[in-house]
Amino acid sequence: MNPERQKKAPIYDALERFRKLHVVPFDVPGHKRGRGNPELVRFLGQQCVGIDVNSMKPLDNLCHPVSIIKEAEELAADAFGAAHSFLMVGGTTSAVQAMVLSACKAGDKIILPRNVHKSAINALVLCGATPVYIDPKVDVELGIPLGMEVQDVKKAMEDNPDAKAVLVNNPTYYGICSDLRTIVKLAHEHNMLALVDEAHGTHFYFSEELPCSAMEAGADMASVSMHKSGGSLTQSSLLLLGPEMNPGYVGQIINLTQTTSASYLLMSSLDLSRRNLALRGKESFEKVARMAQYARDEINEIGGYYAYGKELINGGSVYDFDVTKLAVLTNKIGLAGIEVYDLLRDEYDIQMEFGDISNILAYISIGDSLLDIERLVGALSDIRRLYAKPKKDLFTAEYISPVVATTPQQAFYAEKTRVPINECAGHICGESVMCYPPGIPILAPGEVITKDIIDYIQYAKEKGCSMQGPESDDISYLNVLKKGSF
Ligand SMILES: Cc1ncc(COP(=O)(O)O)c(C=O)c1O
Repeated sequence: MNPERQKKAPIYDALERFRKLHVVPFDVPGHKRGRGNPELVRFLGQQCVGIDVNSMKPLDNLCHPVSIIKEAEELAADAFGAAHSFLMVGGTTSAVQAMVLSACKAGDKIILPRNVHKSAINALVLCGATPVYIDPKVDVELGIPLGMEVQDVKKAMEDNPDAKAVLVNNPTYYGICSDLRTIVKLAHEHNMLALVDEAHGTHFYFSEELPCSAMEAGADMASVSMHKSGGSLTQSSLLLLGPEMNPGYVGQIINLTQTTSASYLLMSSLDLSRRNLALRGKESFEKVARMAQYARDEINEIGGYYAYGKELINGGSVYDFDVTKLAVLTNKIGLAGIEVYDLLRDEYDIQMEFGDISNILAYISIGDSLLDIERLVGALSDIRRLYAKPKKDLFTAEYISPVVATTPQQAFYAEKTRVPINECAGHICGESVMCYPPGIPILAPGEVITKDIIDYIQYAKEKGCSMQGPESDDISYLNVLKKGSF
């Protein structure tokens, strides 16, 4: 990284220059710097609507960058140690989908853990690739899926030498990392691309004390959620490429689905956040790691909760751990994670990132303070005192191994019929079902529905998890494949 060069922020500078010009707008957006929508200006402020503009020569164009956006992408590549980078305005979902669509076409195989985000499985619906799933091991006590073990990845590669790519979570939502360097090396030895979902790993690039990043490990592509731990606006993201990728082709893939009206609010936030991370990221994330460790120690002092950390590392399914993630096992106080999540919001005005069946997760970032951490610790202590109950009837495992009957694309487009949820066992699912967040499908299109899965969905619904995916709003029925339809 070139620290002197990283002081630049070309999109931000161009917008500041543009603001001063008072150009008369006969182009979109129709609010014309807010003049046509005073209510919006009152709500968002003139500073904000004044730079909500469309592409024009002095401001470049995300679909074919040649000037300031090109320079911002080069600066991001330099900051993240990539050969090329793309600013993304469709969330990390668009980056993950661009990775999969660049690597695979219909009929190709891709090796991936089953605990991927729905964006990866939906990419398979779009391109028609066949998943070769690796079951991540499960920590039964915590009820969370872990990382991929190297021997399982190696076996999948040997059994499927025609696979085009392997996709790795670095880290998972809960902070678990696989042995990325070895998996990338294995992928390249088998002529496969190494794709990395780093939705939760932006900060890995800015501290030597955190797990290895995708670009450092030599991966071919990485999707980095700048808007999560990187500090940019919601929906802005980065796609990073290694030296062997063809940026021209990946750009064409991105443009298959990317908007032709990219938001300058999002792009300037990426530009400024990249500069901030490059100049101050190291000290910021060291502070974040210290705060998270302090929170872990304090929560573990309360008793009844388990805020886990590096002690999970086992050299295999937990090769490394992201200490900035603060996941807390709650079920020992007789409450599901989602119940504690609801109590924290409803009774203590504390919004957690998510609550699942057994855990809650706090996202600790550059915007947090020790005062906020103390408030969380106090509230958790209170909840234990006021709401703890005997531990019974709580599910212990989060992950259910899938039986894949057909590809996600074939299942999604097959002829389907509605079956009441209680009668679905034995059928093949035609849609996805997940708790969101974390957005890891419990069922993906093409998978066999089992009684265990139905029980799990009913339990998650009962506990108040926010469920997404199926056509039926209340998941009273599922669309399953008609016999002989694929
Ligand atoms: C692992 C993972 N990948 C990808 C995404 C998609 O990110 P976005 O919401 O920015 O589209 C998420 C979202 O939470 C995620 O958890």
